[in-house]
Amino acid sequence: MSQKIYLDNNATTKCDEKVLDAMLPYLKEQYGNPSSTYSFGKDVKNEIMKVRENIAQLLHAKENEIIFTSCASESNVTAIMNAIRMNSNKKHIITTKVEHASIMETMRYLESIGYMITYLSVDSYGRIDLEELKKSITEDTCLIAIMMANNELGNIYPIKEIGKIAKEHHILFHCDSVQAIGKVPVDVQEMNIDTLSLSGHKINAPKGIGVLYVRSGIPFIPLIFGHQEDNRRGGTENVAYIIGLGKAVELLLKDRETNDQLKQLRDYMETEIQNHIDDVMIYGDFDNRLPNTSNIAFQGVQADELLLMLESFNIYVSTGSACNSKLAEPSHVLTACHANLEEYSPIRISLGKYNTKEEIDFFVKRLINIVGMLRRKK
Ligand SMILES: Cc1ncc(COP(=O)(O)O)c(C=O)c1O
Repeated sequence: MSQKIYLDNNATTKCDEKVLDAMLPYLKEQYGNPSSTYSFGKDVKNEIMKVRENIAQLLHAKENEIIFTSCASESNVTAIMNAIRMNSNKKHIITTKVEHASIMETMRYLESIGYMITYLSVDSYGRIDLEELKKSITEDTCLIAIMMANNELGNIYPIKEIGKIAKEHHILFHCDSVQAIGKVPVDVQEMNIDTLSLSGHKINAPKGIGVLYVRSGIPFIPLIFGHQEDNRRGGTENVAYIIGLGKAVELLLKDRETNDQLKQLRDYMETEIQNHIDDVMIYGDFDNRLPNTSNIAFQGVQADELLLMLESFNIYVSTGSACNSKLAEPSHVLTACHANLEEYSPIRISLGKYNTKEEIDFFVKRLINIVGMLRRKK
Protein backbone atom coordinates (compact mmCIF):
# COMPACT_ATOMS: atom_id res chain seq x y z
CA MET A 1 0.00 0.00 0.00
CA SER A 2 1.85 3.11 -1.16
CA GLN A 3 -0.96 5.47 -0.21
CA LYS A 4 -0.84 7.37 3.02
CA ILE A 5 -2.69 5.84 5.97
CA TYR A 6 -3.86 8.63 8.23
CA LEU A 7 -4.61 7.45 11.77
CA ASP A 8 -4.40 10.77 13.62
CA ASN A 9 -7.96 12.05 13.44
CA ASN A 10 -7.91 13.55 16.92
CA ALA A 11 -5.25 15.95 15.61
CA THR A 12 -7.29 16.92 12.59
CA THR A 13 -9.57 15.38 9.99
CA LYS A 14 -9.77 15.45 6.22
CA CYS A 15 -12.22 18.01 4.91
CA ASP A 16 -15.26 16.20 3.50
CA GLU A 17 -15.75 16.75 -0.28
CA LYS A 18 -19.38 17.71 0.39
CA VAL A 19 -18.15 20.34 2.86
CA LEU A 20 -15.72 21.71 0.30
CA ASP A 21 -18.43 21.81 -2.39
CA ALA A 22 -20.74 23.70 -0.04
CA MET A 23 -17.99 26.23 0.72
CA LEU A 24 -16.72 27.01 -2.77
CA PRO A 25 -19.59 29.27 -3.94
CA TYR A 26 -18.90 31.50 -0.93
CA LEU A 27 -15.28 31.90 -2.02
CA LYS A 28 -16.26 32.53 -5.63
CA GLU A 29 -19.60 34.11 -6.49
CA GLN A 30 -21.29 34.69 -3.12
CA TYR A 31 -18.65 36.90 -1.56
CA GLY A 32 -20.99 39.51 -0.11
CA ASN A 33 -20.41 40.82 3.41
CA PRO A 34 -23.14 39.49 5.74
CA SER A 35 -23.31 42.91 7.44
CA SER A 36 -24.23 44.70 4.19
CA THR A 37 -27.77 46.01 3.91
CA TYR A 38 -28.34 44.97 0.27
CA SER A 39 -29.50 41.50 -0.70
CA PHE A 40 -26.06 40.32 -1.94
CA GLY A 41 -24.92 40.52 1.67
CA LYS A 42 -28.20 39.69 3.37
CA ASP A 43 -28.50 36.40 1.46
CA VAL A 44 -25.20 35.32 2.96
CA LYS A 45 -26.38 36.35 6.41
CA ASN A 46 -29.45 34.15 5.96
CA GLU A 47 -27.26 31.18 5.09
CA ILE A 48 -25.21 31.80 8.23
CA MET A 49 -28.45 31.81 10.22
CA LYS A 50 -29.25 28.34 8.88
CA VAL A 51 -25.88 27.08 10.11
CA ARG A 52 -26.59 28.56 13.51
CA GLU A 53 -29.86 26.61 13.57
CA ASN A 54 -28.02 23.40 12.66
CA ILE A 55 -25.47 23.82 15.41
CA ALA A 56 -28.16 24.76 17.91
CA GLN A 57 -29.97 21.54 16.99
CA LEU A 58 -26.78 19.50 17.46
CA LEU A 59 -26.25 20.93 20.96
CA HIS A 60 -29.93 21.22 21.98
CA ALA A 61 -29.37 24.95 22.26
CA LYS A 62 -31.03 28.07 20.88
CA GLU A 63 -29.74 29.84 17.76
CA ASN A 64 -28.94 33.03 19.65
CA GLU A 65 -26.65 31.05 21.98
CA ILE A 66 -24.24 30.16 19.14
CA ILE A 67 -21.23 32.41 18.44
CA PHE A 68 -18.84 31.69 15.58
CA THR A 69 -15.14 32.02 16.41
CA SER A 70 -11.85 31.32 14.64
CA CYS A 71 -11.17 28.06 16.51
CA ALA A 72 -11.96 26.19 19.70
CA SER A 73 -8.88 27.66 21.38
CA GLU A 74 -10.44 31.12 20.95
CA SER A 75 -13.76 29.78 22.27
CA ASN A 76 -12.06 28.29 25.34
CA VAL A 77 -10.13 31.44 26.16
CA THR A 78 -13.19 33.65 25.57
CA ALA A 79 -15.32 31.53 27.90
CA ILE A 80 -12.72 31.54 30.68
CA MET A 81 -11.99 35.26 30.42
CA ASN A 82 -15.72 35.98 30.42
CA ALA A 83 -16.24 33.92 33.56
CA ILE A 84 -13.56 35.79 35.47
CA ARG A 85 -14.72 39.21 34.29
CA MET A 86 -18.30 38.41 35.30
CA ASN A 87 -17.17 37.42 38.79
CA SER A 88 -14.41 39.91 39.42
CA ASN A 89 -14.58 39.41 43.20
CA LYS A 90 -13.96 35.64 42.95
CA LYS A 91 -10.49 34.30 42.32
CA HIS A 92 -10.72 30.51 42.27
CA ILE A 93 -11.15 28.18 39.27
CA ILE A 94 -11.40 24.39 39.15
CA THR A 95 -10.14 22.46 36.15
CA THR A 96 -8.31 19.15 35.59
CA LYS A 97 -4.73 18.11 34.97
CA VAL A 98 -5.62 16.73 31.55
CA GLU A 99 -7.15 19.70 29.69
CA HIS A 100 -6.08 20.94 26.28
CA ALA A 101 -3.23 23.49 26.06
CA SER A 102 -5.66 26.35 25.32
CA ILE A 103 -7.22 25.81 28.77
CA MET A 104 -3.97 24.92 30.57
CA GLU A 105 -2.06 27.95 29.30
CA THR A 106 -4.93 30.30 30.16
CA MET A 107 -4.96 28.86 33.69
CA ARG A 108 -1.19 29.34 34.00
CA TYR A 109 -1.62 32.96 32.95
CA LEU A 110 -4.42 33.48 35.47
CA GLU A 111 -2.22 31.94 38.18
CA SER A 112 0.48 34.46 37.29
CA ILE A 113 -1.95 37.33 37.97
CA GLY A 114 -3.12 36.00 41.31
CA TYR A 115 -5.85 33.43 40.63
CA MET A 116 -5.99 30.17 42.58
CA ILE A 117 -6.39 27.22 40.24
CA THR A 118 -7.31 23.73 41.43
CA TYR A 119 -6.18 21.10 38.93
CA LEU A 120 -8.20 17.95 39.70
CA SER A 121 -6.04 14.84 39.67
CA VAL A 122 -6.78 11.72 37.62
CA ASP A 123 -6.23 8.05 38.46
CA SER A 124 -4.11 5.69 36.38
CA TYR A 125 -7.00 5.31 33.92
CA GLY A 126 -7.28 9.09 33.53
CA ARG A 127 -10.56 9.31 35.47
CA ILE A 128 -11.46 12.23 37.71
CA ASP A 129 -13.05 11.90 41.14
CA LEU A 130 -16.31 13.83 41.61
CA GLU A 131 -15.79 13.87 45.40
CA GLU A 132 -12.53 15.73 44.84
CA LEU A 133 -14.42 18.18 42.65
CA LYS A 134 -17.06 18.77 45.34
CA LYS A 135 -14.41 19.20 48.06
CA SER A 136 -12.50 21.72 45.91
CA ILE A 137 -15.43 24.14 45.65
CA THR A 138 -15.10 27.25 47.81
CA GLU A 139 -17.00 30.52 48.25
CA ASP A 140 -14.40 32.01 45.93
CA THR A 141 -14.92 29.59 42.99
CA CYS A 142 -16.11 31.36 39.84
CA LEU A 143 -15.67 28.64 37.20
CA ILE A 144 -15.41 24.90 36.65
CA ALA A 145 -13.75 24.09 33.30
CA ILE A 146 -13.71 20.39 32.43
CA MET A 147 -13.51 18.78 29.00
CA MET A 148 -16.11 16.37 27.68
CA ALA A 149 -13.59 13.99 26.11
CA ASN A 150 -9.83 13.85 26.33
CA ASN A 151 -7.85 14.22 23.11
CA GLU A 152 -5.06 11.83 24.12
CA LEU A 153 -6.81 9.03 25.99
CA GLY A 154 -10.28 9.40 24.50
CA ASN A 155 -11.77 9.33 28.02
CA ILE A 156 -15.32 10.66 28.27
CA TYR A 157 -15.95 12.59 31.48
CA PRO A 158 -19.22 12.58 33.52
CA ILE A 159 -20.37 15.94 32.25
CA LYS A 160 -23.99 15.65 33.37
CA GLU A 161 -22.91 15.02 36.97
CA ILE A 162 -20.35 17.83 36.81
CA GLY A 163 -22.98 20.20 35.40
CA LYS A 164 -25.32 19.28 38.25
CA ILE A 165 -22.66 19.98 40.87
CA ALA A 166 -21.82 23.33 39.25
CA LYS A 167 -25.49 24.33 39.10
CA GLU A 168 -26.12 23.37 42.73
CA HIS A 169 -23.27 25.67 43.76
CA HIS A 170 -24.20 28.47 41.31
CA ILE A 171 -20.84 28.20 39.58
CA LEU A 172 -20.37 28.68 35.83
CA PHE A 173 -19.47 25.47 33.98
CA HIS A 174 -17.40 25.57 30.78
CA CYS A 175 -16.99 22.38 28.78
CA ASP A 176 -14.42 21.92 26.00
CA SER A 177 -16.34 19.54 23.75
CA VAL A 178 -13.98 19.51 20.78
CA GLN A 179 -13.25 15.78 20.77
CA ALA A 180 -16.73 14.73 21.82
CA ILE A 181 -18.74 16.44 19.09
CA GLY A 182 -20.19 13.89 16.73
CA LYS A 183 -19.06 11.03 18.96
CA VAL A 184 -20.97 11.67 22.17
CA PRO A 185 -24.56 12.98 22.34
CA VAL A 186 -24.37 16.53 23.61
CA ASP A 187 -27.31 18.25 25.27
CA VAL A 188 -26.38 21.52 26.93
CA GLN A 189 -29.71 21.65 28.79
CA GLU A 190 -29.57 18.18 30.24
CA MET A 191 -25.85 18.51 30.98
CA ASN A 192 -26.20 21.97 32.58
CA ILE A 193 -23.40 23.37 30.47
CA ASP A 194 -23.10 27.16 30.58
CA THR A 195 -20.44 27.62 27.91
CA LEU A 196 -19.06 25.10 25.42
CA SER A 197 -16.47 25.03 22.65
CA LEU A 198 -16.26 23.04 19.45
CA SER A 199 -13.97 23.04 16.43
CA GLY A 200 -14.62 22.47 12.72
CA HIS A 201 -11.45 20.64 11.82
CA LYS A 202 -12.18 17.69 14.13
CA ILE A 203 -15.44 16.96 12.29
CA ASN A 204 -14.33 17.04 8.64
CA ALA A 205 -14.74 20.80 8.19
CA PRO A 206 -11.68 23.02 7.63
CA LYS A 207 -9.23 24.36 10.19
CA GLY A 208 -9.88 27.89 11.40
CA ILE A 209 -13.53 27.77 12.41
CA GLY A 210 -14.95 27.22 15.88
CA VAL A 211 -18.06 27.77 17.95
CA LEU A 212 -18.66 29.13 21.40
CA TYR A 213 -22.01 28.30 22.96
CA VAL A 214 -23.09 30.73 25.70
CA ARG A 215 -26.29 29.95 27.62
CA SER A 216 -28.75 32.81 27.25
CA GLY A 217 -29.00 34.90 30.37
CA ILE A 218 -25.30 34.63 31.13
CA PRO A 219 -23.75 38.09 30.99
CA PHE A 220 -21.12 38.17 28.28
CA ILE A 221 -18.11 40.37 27.65
CA PRO A 222 -16.45 39.68 24.27
CA LEU A 223 -12.77 38.95 23.82
CA ILE A 224 -12.83 40.65 20.41
CA PHE A 225 -15.12 43.69 20.38
CA GLY A 226 -17.15 44.58 17.31
CA HIS A 227 -20.67 44.44 15.90
CA GLN A 228 -20.74 40.97 14.42
CA GLU A 229 -22.29 37.98 16.16
CA ASP A 230 -24.72 40.26 17.97
CA ASN A 231 -21.87 42.36 19.40
CA ARG A 232 -20.31 39.27 20.97
CA ARG A 233 -17.42 38.59 18.57
CA GLY A 234 -16.04 41.25 16.27
CA GLY A 235 -14.58 40.49 12.86
CA THR A 236 -16.22 39.96 9.47
CA GLU A 237 -17.63 36.46 9.49
CA ASN A 238 -15.50 33.73 7.91
CA VAL A 239 -18.44 32.95 5.67
CA ALA A 240 -17.17 30.01 3.61
CA TYR A 241 -15.84 28.26 6.71
CA ILE A 242 -19.07 28.80 8.61
CA ILE A 243 -20.96 27.30 5.67
CA GLY A 244 -18.48 24.39 5.64
CA LEU A 245 -18.99 23.83 9.36
CA GLY A 246 -22.75 23.87 8.79
CA LYS A 247 -22.43 21.18 6.14
CA ALA A 248 -20.20 19.06 8.40
CA VAL A 249 -22.77 19.33 11.21
CA GLU A 250 -25.60 18.49 8.80
CA LEU A 251 -23.68 15.33 7.84
CA LEU A 252 -23.16 14.46 11.51
CA LEU A 253 -26.85 14.88 12.26
CA LYS A 254 -27.77 12.57 9.37
CA ASP A 255 -25.12 9.95 9.93
CA ARG A 256 -25.68 8.03 13.16
CA GLU A 257 -23.84 4.87 12.18
CA THR A 258 -20.25 6.04 11.82
CA ASN A 259 -19.57 5.76 15.54
CA ASP A 260 -20.56 2.08 15.67
CA GLN A 261 -18.33 1.42 12.67
CA LEU A 262 -15.46 3.34 14.23
CA LYS A 263 -15.79 1.41 17.48
CA GLN A 264 -15.86 -1.91 15.67
CA LEU A 265 -12.76 -1.00 13.69
CA ARG A 266 -10.92 0.33 16.77
CA ASP A 267 -11.80 -2.76 18.83
CA TYR A 268 -10.80 -5.04 15.96
CA MET A 269 -7.46 -3.21 15.71
CA GLU A 270 -6.77 -3.48 19.44
CA THR A 271 -7.66 -7.18 19.46
CA GLU A 272 -5.41 -7.88 16.46
CA ILE A 273 -2.56 -5.99 18.09
CA GLN A 274 -2.97 -7.82 21.40
CA ASN A 275 -3.22 -11.19 19.64
CA HIS A 276 0.05 -10.67 17.81
CA ILE A 277 2.21 -8.56 20.10
CA ASP A 278 3.18 -9.41 23.70
CA ASP A 279 3.20 -6.99 26.57
CA VAL A 280 0.92 -4.30 25.23
CA MET A 281 -0.55 -1.58 27.43
CA ILE A 282 -3.68 0.35 26.47
CA TYR A 283 -4.15 3.56 28.44
CA GLY A 284 -7.49 5.18 29.28
CA ASP A 285 -10.90 4.42 30.73
CA PHE A 286 -12.24 1.39 28.88
CA ASP A 287 -15.78 1.92 30.14
CA ASN A 288 -16.02 5.52 28.95
CA ARG A 289 -13.90 5.99 25.88
CA LEU A 290 -14.44 7.66 22.50
CA PRO A 291 -15.15 5.05 19.83
CA ASN A 292 -12.18 6.06 17.67
CA THR A 293 -9.26 6.47 20.07
CA SER A 294 -6.57 4.06 21.20
CA ASN A 295 -3.61 5.11 23.31
CA ILE A 296 -1.33 2.13 23.21
CA ALA A 297 2.21 1.22 24.28
CA PHE A 298 4.56 -1.70 23.67
CA GLN A 299 6.87 -2.60 26.54
CA GLY A 300 10.42 -1.36 25.91
CA VAL A 301 9.57 0.39 22.63
CA GLN A 302 9.98 4.17 22.46
CA ALA A 303 7.03 5.92 20.80
CA ASP A 304 9.14 8.39 18.84
CA GLU A 305 11.17 5.59 17.23
CA LEU A 306 8.00 3.70 16.43
CA LEU A 307 6.46 6.81 14.93
CA LEU A 308 9.40 7.35 12.58
CA MET A 309 9.35 3.74 11.43
CA LEU A 310 5.61 3.89 10.77
CA GLU A 311 6.07 7.13 8.87
CA SER A 312 8.51 5.38 6.54
CA PHE A 313 5.50 3.27 5.46
CA ASN A 314 3.33 6.38 5.07
CA ILE A 315 1.41 5.57 8.24
CA TYR A 316 0.63 8.56 10.45
CA VAL A 317 -0.09 8.26 14.16
CA SER A 318 0.99 10.55 17.00
CA THR A 319 2.71 10.37 20.35
CA GLY A 320 0.28 12.74 22.03
CA SER A 321 -1.83 15.71 21.08
CA ALA A 322 -0.70 17.48 17.91
CA CYS A 323 -0.25 20.69 19.85
CA ASN A 324 2.14 19.06 22.31
CA SER A 325 4.03 16.73 20.06
CA LYS A 326 6.52 19.43 19.01
CA LEU A 327 7.61 19.61 22.62
CA ALA A 328 10.14 17.13 23.86
CA GLU A 329 8.34 17.01 27.20
CA PRO A 330 6.31 13.92 28.08
CA SER A 331 2.55 14.22 27.73
CA HIS A 332 0.99 16.09 30.66
CA VAL A 333 -2.01 13.76 30.40
CA LEU A 334 -0.01 10.55 30.79
CA THR A 335 2.17 12.15 33.43
CA ALA A 336 -1.02 12.98 35.37
CA CYS A 337 -1.98 9.28 35.07
CA HIS A 338 1.43 8.38 36.63
CA ALA A 339 2.14 6.26 33.54
CA ASN A 340 5.47 4.45 33.42
CA LEU A 341 6.57 6.19 30.24
CA GLU A 342 10.09 4.74 30.34
CA GLU A 343 8.72 1.23 29.95
CA TYR A 344 5.43 1.93 28.20
CA SER A 345 5.69 4.92 25.91
CA PRO A 346 2.42 5.19 23.96
CA ILE A 347 1.34 6.15 20.49
CA ARG A 348 -2.13 7.56 19.91
CA ILE A 349 -4.13 6.02 17.11
CA SER A 350 -7.32 7.92 16.33
CA LEU A 351 -9.57 6.66 13.56
CA GLY A 352 -11.83 8.66 11.30
CA LYS A 353 -14.68 7.99 8.93
CA TYR A 354 -12.39 7.41 5.95
CA ASN A 355 -10.33 4.62 7.55
CA THR A 356 -10.92 1.10 6.23
CA LYS A 357 -10.33 -2.43 7.51
CA GLU A 358 -7.69 -2.89 4.77
CA GLU A 359 -5.78 0.08 6.15
CA ILE A 360 -5.97 -1.31 9.68
CA ASP A 361 -4.76 -4.72 8.52
CA PHE A 362 -1.84 -3.12 6.70
CA PHE A 363 -1.02 -0.97 9.72
CA VAL A 364 -1.16 -3.87 12.21
CA LYS A 365 1.07 -6.01 9.99
CA ARG A 366 3.70 -3.28 9.81
CA LEU A 367 3.35 -2.59 13.53
CA ILE A 368 4.02 -6.25 14.40
CA ASN A 369 7.22 -6.21 12.33
CA ILE A 370 8.43 -2.84 13.61
CA VAL A 371 7.79 -3.61 17.29
CA GLY A 372 9.60 -6.96 16.86
CA MET A 373 12.53 -5.25 15.18
CA LEU A 374 12.81 -2.46 17.76
CA ARG A 375 12.66 -4.99 20.59
CA ARG A 376 15.38 -7.14 19.00
CA LYS A 377 17.62 -4.06 18.63
CA LYS A 378 17.75 -3.65 22.41
C1 LIG B 1 -9.69 18.91 23.46
C2 LIG B 1 -9.30 20.02 22.53
N1 LIG B 1 -9.63 21.28 22.84
C3 LIG B 1 -9.32 22.31 22.06
C4 LIG B 1 -8.61 22.12 20.89
C5 LIG B 1 -8.27 23.31 20.05
O1 LIG B 1 -9.01 23.36 18.86
P1 LIG B 1 -8.59 24.38 17.72
O2 LIG B 1 -7.51 23.72 16.92
O3 LIG B 1 -9.84 24.61 16.91
O4 LIG B 1 -8.14 25.62 18.38
C6 LIG B 1 -8.21 20.82 20.52
C7 LIG B 1 -7.40 20.60 19.32
O5 LIG B 1 -6.56 19.72 19.26
C8 LIG B 1 -8.57 19.74 21.37
O6 LIG B 1 -8.23 18.49 21.09
